Amino acid sequence: NNIKTVYSGIGGYEKMEQIVETFYGYVKENPVLIPLFPDDLTETAHKQKLFLTQFFGGPRLYEEERGHPMLRRRHLPFPITPSARDAWLACMNLALVEHEVEEPYYTEMMERMTLTANHMMNTPES
Ligand code: HEM
Repeated sequence: NNIKTVYSGIGGYEKMEQIVETFYGYVKENPVLIPLFPDDLTETAHKQKLFLTQFFGGPRLYEEERGHPMLRRRHLPFPITPSARDAWLACMNLALVEHEVEEPYYTEMMERMTLTANHMMNTPES
């Protein structure tokens, strides 16, 4: 099978770890996102590495550790407004650019994460 997954195309687990670490570095500096996240992002980053690995075609690590993702339900405790969605996607975009994720993977990743981020919104702009 010569059809690569996004996960293997970008460089596998090591690359995913770097992207996620960089992403949460930006989250920590983002005034819209800071109040939503715990102070210590170690566990959050760990879960996100497992999730994005699985989401982009790698081993199903998230399910092994956390069960069915149910992402919308897991995000309901947090008020996710359109500006939080925009901020999240902006941080992710910076992380992908910083780690030089190339086409077609860059567009594929941003498109799928945009769809999911839209689905996570649960609160109107205040
Ligand atoms: C968890 C915020 C979008 C995947 C979380 C947590 C927050 C959050 C506050 C809890 C962190 C913790 O307690 O450790 C947001 C915001 C988003 C967003 C503001 C903006 C739309 C997304 C998207 C994805 C995603 C697009 C996937 C592509 C996850 C995962 C977890 C998580 C996998 C861990 C769930 C668990 O196992 O507990 N998110 N999120 N999030 N988020 Fe998001």
